[in-house]
Amino acid sequence: MKKVIVGMGTCGLSAGAQNTYDRLSELLSKNTGSFELSGTGCIGMCYREPLVEVREGDRRTIYGGVTPELAEEIFEKDVRDGKRLDEHIVYSLDGEGEPSGSEAEFLSAQTRIVLRNCGTIDPESIDEYEESGGYRGIRKALLEMTPEEIVEEVKESGLRGRGGAGFPTGLKWSFAASYDSDTKYVVCNADEGDPGAFMDRSVLEGDPHSVLEGMIICGRAIGASFGYIYCRAEYPMAIHRLDLAIVAAREKGYLGKNILGSGFDFDLKIKQGAGAFVCGEETALFASIEGQRGMPRIRPPFPAEKGLWKKPTNNNNVETFANIPWIIDQGAPAYAAYGTEKSRGTKVFALAGKVVHGGLAEVPMGTSIKDLVFKIGGGIKEGRKFKAVQMGGPSGGCIPDSLSDTPVDFESIPATGAIMGSGGMVVLDDTACMVEMARFFLEFTQAESCGKCTFCRIGTLRMLEVLTRITKGEGREGDIEKLTELGERIKEASLCGLGQSAPNPALSTIRFYRDEYEAHIKSQKCPAGGCDALVDFFIDAEKCTGCTLCAKNCPVDAISGEVKKLHVIDNSICVRCAKCVSSCNFDAVYKS
Ligand SMILES: Cc1cc2nc3c(=O)[nH]c(=O)nc-3n(C[C@H](O)[C@H](O)[C@H](O)COP(=O)(O)O)c2cc1C
Ligand code: SF4
Ligand code: SF4
Ligand code: SF4
Repeated sequence: MKKVIVGMGTCGLSAGAQNTYDRLSELLSKNTGSFELSGTGCIGMCYREPLVEVREGDRRTIYGGVTPELAEEIFEKDVRDGKRLDEHIVYSLDGEGEPSGSEAEFLSAQTRIVLRNCGTIDPESIDEYEESGGYRGIRKALLEMTPEEIVEEVKESGLRGRGGAGFPTGLKWSFAASYDSDTKYVVCNADEGDPGAFMDRSVLEGDPHSVLEGMIICGRAIGASFGYIYCRAEYPMAIHRLDLAIVAAREKGYLGKNILGSGFDFDLKIKQGAGAFVCGEETALFASIEGQRGMPRIRPPFPAEKGLWKKPTNNNNVETFANIPWIIDQGAPAYAAYGTEKSRGTKVFALAGKVVHGGLAEVPMGTSIKDLVFKIGGGIKEGRKFKAVQMGGPSGGCIPDSLSDTPVDFESIPATGAIMGSGGMVVLDDTACMVEMARFFLEFTQAESCGKCTFCRIGTLRMLEVLTRITKGEGREGDIEKLTELGERIKEASLCGLGQSAPNPALSTIRFYRDEYEAHIKSQKCPAGGCDALVDFFIDAEKCTGCTLCAKNCPVDAISGEVKKLHVIDNSICVRCAKCVSSCNFDAVYKS
């Protein structure tokens, strides 16, 4: 039976996958034969969506950029006649052979444990999950293992939390298991507040059952019989697929009373979050589930003792839970075989920014930044120079190109002053201004501070004021020292991770790009040309068609020129709003 599979994650749908799917559905319904059409989650190649796979046994052919017209051609030639359309193939695999296709390296350079089913199964079908080995872990955990043995297995695997801090998961479970209580909770943190991160969303959209299975196993291990998935409301497709998965799992007896006849009861519920970054912090998240304002609480007591509704609670990230069924099914040593001594297993990264292949990639811990950016990511867009990666979202920091051999793991990344975080990786080229980068992230954390601690509330505001002045060319002698001093104090005196890490982008860019700060302050120059206030604007005589749009959009009449003739900018009048850049359809306006 030939299967035609369309990538229907948020990335696929935003690239037009629904039209592609509808066209294929029409064609397949008119043509009786042994074809089957289904949707799947994100396979990771977001940059080549819409993606369509034609599968027959272990023969896989994935086509990229599939418009409804191309879908028709794929149907006529490949699905019906078995002839591949070579020029559109991004990945193909024949049985055990070597993969080929224009993007073969993107997938073959990865090791997929968390993403094992993403882009291959229909996330809305529990049968497909089971056929791919799903709910095998739960059978083993519930029918063959004691709770203590489950905790030991997770400890032995070396799995560390994927939500940012990298706390050993098995150890965390043992704490929650050690408290006696008639009520305990398992919480899944699906808040994913980091700008640029979409790992958790992709797992939830592409393989929701793996998260449920991980949570049920955790419930059994710590003695909890109820769970919550805290998912931001901006993830409607993830919530929809989780809803379907919960209903299907209940019907099949994986959720509810006396699961698989083991005597163990467990059920769960989704709680939608309103999208405040601080609600990802676990104690704030508990407050939000309880119906209170999402503000972090002082620890101790730790969640293992008094978490949700003051009951022993274990909270883990989506990716952490998605690893669990595989670990239980395949055994801890199989998992521990990947990664480094202290950071075991694999990690999913969301590659974004100036990288050619923006998307989702799962690699063994310890893979170098260079391999992620150049091997999987395909290098820098437009052949520009690689400058840095920004890791760990707004709490993270920048790692310069000179340190691109750094392995990504929980020891090596913090040594550079950045953090692993949850896996967001923004690739920057030589046009990125590092002061502006720090300002951008601080603006985010400053706005998201819950305001409970003075240092976080006021300190980040002062830092933001200084950074904004510098990017406008109004920096003063002593500003760098002021930023460093403030940053260190905020880190020391803040209650939760938001304040403790908010200064990281500024501190790490000062560490590696101090000369850029100095150029802004001492000579009012932005060496990378990233701060509009500090550059001059020009029009390229070769490209300008004299369409007059830029002049019409300039708020201060700084642009002159006749229709169909070269236009010119008077930089002594220009207020550097960059409207001319965005209004020109011919890419003729450039900055110096
Ligand atoms: C401001 C802030 C935001 C956070 N956001 C998230 C998040 O979106 N998802 C997440 O899993 N953890 C987030 N965390 C970390 C959680 O508090 C917690 O450490 C994590 O969910 C534990 O799961 P793990 O052990 O599986 O990593 C955040 C922490 C802070 C301080
Ligand atoms: S550090 Fe910031 S976000 Fe965290 S509790 Fe204090 S004020 Fe709120
Ligand atoms: S919008 Fe572009 S093409 Fe048109 S006049 Fe201005 S610079 Fe020239
Ligand atoms: S940057 Fe703004 S003010 Fe300056 S020329 Fe362009 S549109 Fe006019």
